[in-house]
Amino acid sequence: MKVGILTAGGDCPGLNAAIRGVGKTLLLKYNAKVYGISSGFLGLIENDYVELTEASLSGILTIGGTILGTSREKPFKKSKHFLEEIDKPAVIKENYDNLGLDCLVCIGGNGTQRTASKLSEYGMNVIGMPKTIDNDVFGTELTFGFHSAVGIATEAIDRLHTTANAHKRVMVIELMGHNAGWLTLYAGIAGGGDVILIPEIPYDLNIIADYLRDRTAKKKSSSIIVVAEGIETKKGMSAGHYIATQVGEMVEEQMRETVLGYIQRGGTPAPFDRILATRFGAYAAHLIAEGNFGRMVAIQNDHVTSIPLSETEGKLKLVPSDHALLTRATDIGTCFGANLG
Ligand code: F6P
Repeated sequence: MKVGILTAGGDCPGLNAAIRGVGKTLLLKYNAKVYGISSGFLGLIENDYVELTEASLSGILTIGGTILGTSREKPFKKSKHFLEEIDKPAVIKENYDNLGLDCLVCIGGNGTQRTASKLSEYGMNVIGMPKTIDNDVFGTELTFGFHSAVGIATEAIDRLHTTANAHKRVMVIELMGHNAGWLTLYAGIAGGGDVILIPEIPYDLNIIADYLRDRTAKKKSSSIIVVAEGIETKKGMSAGHYIATQVGEMVEEQMRETVLGYIQRGGTPAPFDRILATRFGAYAAHLIAEGNFGRMVAIQNDHVTSIPLSETEGKLKLVPSDHALLTRATDIGTCFGANLG
């Protein structure tokens, strides 16, 4: 059995743990040959790969990033440049066949799972493994990378509290998450954010301003606003900057803004993500050994399972309006910039 593994899309903590999980299970339990494809789907187009051995998979569990490299290459997306117009899916299939692969493991977020599904329809044996700090992959309750990012963002919010208190300021922190609010919701609650703004809940600037004034009236000298990068803003402004400037004009308090950025994706994975990535990896190897292809590994009710790749393709998992955390946080006085009832 020959299996190729690639990591595609934005990096996140836990990718190496996942490569190790699937690779070691394939090598040790199924005596397979394992190849690491470089830089996501680009490596399949350029035929760039290395054989992965027990030695190359040792010592990588705790390392951030990905030993294989990654890219945002989308082989099914038509290029705008005439000269680049090669039939990428056909090249990928040719290289897959020439390497004699029995399966390709695609570790990535929504875009990667969409490509994986299309490659599966194109006649290749594919298994998807969901990762992203955004936690927005449809069909799995969790993606690895998410818990690590929540930890990093929470620590950042904790640190902002001290400056906010010392200077009696309102601190705005913008977190990643693309179009989903999971990271901001979890880190916002864990970090004791006073206002939490996520793309799924349309906000009213007046509600935020009233809430801050009320805190000042109650002698709460500082506030923290946690903002998801994906909230709607005007004039093409970034989320944190927009909220800081707009709300700043409406209240007396001094505002300061912080964009946490790529720090959220970097560094060593949290123990939870190491375990999740290892579980996903081992499960992916078993699916391959059974010949159960065209599926994405998932976790549901703390049970690792799989769903057809076609089911997740083109869908996004957003924070539902009846999510329990929204209610619990509202109960303790957190403001979501809207009247949630
Ligand atoms: O999907 C992960 C993510 O970090 C998002 O939260 C963010 O919107 C995006 O990737 C940033 O993409 P890039 O790495 O291409 O700048």
